[in-house]
Amino acid sequence: LANGVARAPPMGWNSWNHFQCAIDERIVKTTADALVSTGLAALGYKYVNIDDCWGEWNRDQRGNLVANSSAFPSGIKALADYVHARGLKLGIYSDAGYRTCSKKMPGSLGHEDQDARTFAEWGVDYLKYDNCYHDGSKPQDRYAKMSYALRKVGRPILYSLCEWGDENPAKWAGSLGNAWRTTGDIKDNWDSVTSIADSNNIWGRYAGPGKWNDPDMLEVGNGGMSLEEYRSHFSIWALMKAPLLIGCDIRSASRETLRTLGNKEVIDVNQDPLGVQGRKIRSKEGLEVWAGPISRRRVVVVLWNRSLSRASITVGWREVGLSPVNPFSVRDLWEHSFVSMKMRFRLTAYVAPHACKMYILTPV
Ligand code: GLA
Repeated sequence: LANGVARAPPMGWNSWNHFQCAIDERIVKTTADALVSTGLAALGYKYVNIDDCWGEWNRDQRGNLVANSSAFPSGIKALADYVHARGLKLGIYSDAGYRTCSKKMPGSLGHEDQDARTFAEWGVDYLKYDNCYHDGSKPQDRYAKMSYALRKVGRPILYSLCEWGDENPAKWAGSLGNAWRTTGDIKDNWDSVTSIADSNNIWGRYAGPGKWNDPDMLEVGNGGMSLEEYRSHFSIWALMKAPLLIGCDIRSASRETLRTLGNKEVIDVNQDPLGVQGRKIRSKEGLEVWAGPISRRRVVVVLWNRSLSRASITVGWREVGLSPVNPFSVRDLWEHSFVSMKMRFRLTAYVAPHACKMYILTPV
């Protein structure tokens, strides 16, 4: 959607993967503080997104959504002011149905204009819009209503669709929203990450500046995977131009977690102005090559070992669209060093099980 936001994939934090419904304003504020103090905000993680369960069970007498009075006693406007004062942006969650997916609060179906105005008055910058408990009508129609409502409120609000019905939103959501989920919910395990990566991969041609495929939020730091697995998860999400929404508790994140999420070279791939989603080029017995073009005629390559043993993986220049005789410098984005200043034809690396190598090839 050409509404001026999300020219690069959105970056930030979302409460759901770690906290589910156990959220309150203290968690949101201290997380905003942690984004700043860890340096993650300066790296681009700007959105502080409240997911489901922030509201009262019912609307008020005028039909307005209201923040839950025990969890968010100061209200959402105060929270928006708090995060804005730190140079961050606030995101919120609603649903294109009668109830949100937790069922704990009302959805926005039939209240699209009213709720969009409420969000704008509060200073909300981002809306994640889910698809539970609706009336059975086409998601295209219900999602369009909120899209138009948001465009009328006079405040740029990033609009993120959370729907993955029979007709994948990649096919229809580009003119309505800035991102759309392509899969079911991520889980903090390897099978989930690999299968979601594959499902999201097939929609690559629909992505671009202002409109991104969303393979769901990051699980990095939640404890269910190894460091190597989290690095693979983060590398592939970055290459696929996925929204980078941190899903752990940043306030207690380990140094390893912060180093993974804070890898500027990998983030730069994700935020590259060309905005082309990288894709899986080749896969055999769990040994995979993923690649895509980035600006200044460079190419990013991920060699991903999904097998259970250490293996060598080779990528040839030709298979990533380059002339084999042309020389490229090869930079390793996790080692932060050049493998070669001038390499022709191909590149081979040994990759540990469930790990990946991530490189940028630059013409020399
Ligand atoms: C759905 C979404 C999740 C989360 C929950 C909240 O399952 O896909 O990301 O927002 O709803 O209930």
